[in-house]
Amino acid sequence: MPISRPAVVVLSLAILLLAVRICTRQLIAVQAGEQLLQVGDRPWRRVSRPGKRASPGPGRVRARPSHPVSRPHPERSPGGADSELVRVAAKEFLELFHAENPQAGWMGPRIAAVMREIDLTGTYWHTAEELAFGARVAWRNNARCIGRLYWRSLQIRDLRTVSDAGHVARHCFDHLRVAHNGGKIRPMISVFAPESPNRPAPRIWNEQLIRYAGYEQPDGRVLGDPRYRSFTSKLIQRGWQPPETPGAFDVLPLVVETVDEGPRMFQLPGTAVNEVPLEHPELEWFADLGLRWHAVPVISNTRLVIGGVSYPAAPFNGWYMGTEIGARNLGDSDRYALVPEVAERMGLDTSDEATLWRDRALVEINRAVLHSFNANGVSITDHHTESRRFLIHLEREERAGRRCPADWTWIVPPMSGSQTPVFHRYYETETQLPNFFADPDAAHRALHGGPPAFP
Ligand code: ARG
Repeated sequence: MPISRPAVVVLSLAILLLAVRICTRQLIAVQAGEQLLQVGDRPWRRVSRPGKRASPGPGRVRARPSHPVSRPHPERSPGGADSELVRVAAKEFLELFHAENPQAGWMGPRIAAVMREIDLTGTYWHTAEELAFGARVAWRNNARCIGRLYWRSLQIRDLRTVSDAGHVARHCFDHLRVAHNGGKIRPMISVFAPESPNRPAPRIWNEQLIRYAGYEQPDGRVLGDPRYRSFTSKLIQRGWQPPETPGAFDVLPLVVETVDEGPRMFQLPGTAVNEVPLEHPELEWFADLGLRWHAVPVISNTRLVIGGVSYPAAPFNGWYMGTEIGARNLGDSDRYALVPEVAERMGLDTSDEATLWRDRALVEINRAVLHSFNANGVSITDHHTESRRFLIHLEREERAGRRCPADWTWIVPPMSGSQTPVFHRYYETETQLPNFFADPDAAHRALHGGPPAFP
């Protein structure tokens, strides 16, 4: 069949674009000056295409499902209904910012300038001070976090001009190194490009920057972290190659999606992945279990919302509380489920629940976690200490005349709850802004590896 002339032109253009794409990818990898290994290098995306607006933040009007992003969104365009919501949220945030930062100068002119900017563009650009304050207060308002006493110490990496996948990935790896800080972990957030009316922000698919693969075995059991069995198999379908001999602690690649590039995978460089091998202070056989855990928990799929501006890619970390690893990640029956094996090795009578073999094994796993992190000079805290600190935080917030929302079901530690003071009281629950939000579609992507945000 003869090919028409326009078809030939389109075809050669497509080939040219493809070649340019492949070249730029290699360039990014080389520029990175380290192994920024791009996985599954197959261009499965057009170079640019219309995309879907992100799911709305709180108080946002939900966008129509497939409105092209290349044109301004009617509801978010200057003067639209959505921009009215942005104005209200911006004003509320700037009032808070100026009330808590009297040194920041006059509020009136700043609010007026921001309102003009929203009228013109549908959004606005935070000053560095507003961004830092907003991110810290988002932590302060995070009702599930017991570690909020240190909210002021959050360090901000202002990466709002970074929006392409390769650079997002590279900065995430830097984040891991800088936050680890030789073991003295620094609470830190990296804020990438915000959502804007004419361009959606990048997305990080992974729930955390470091997560372990879970491989479904023929017998139905899972090698590794069962939480990520579906995510892992999706990434393998997308071209990720697990290590030749898969193990229980294989670090998954980072998936960064942008509207122009689609989802791209990046292997984490070894220098970004700090881990602690687990041993027990008395039980010598514990080390033979070959367990370990990563030092820095960087949550990477929640949306930071400050004054009507939304940052879907804003990975942040604190340091671990031991029970997160020992009681939940290693203990939960749908995670590494180590309690029965540890109990057997301890020689406990597992035939009778009333021997409390589960509780006894759980305590030893948790002792191993705290001991190993301490022995390796990596910051960690125990649930008794952290519970006391949280009550100090509550007192301070009350003295400052602020409400401190807290979710009892998250605050109370997953072991020995009633032995900690946070158990024996109630909390305010109403959501405060700024805050971090878990979008349902982002939560789904983090567990199942899709569907893409910009299909
Ligand atoms: N629970 C999560 C995990 O085990 C980490 C959540 C954030 N934790 C923290 N200490 N900042 O990986």
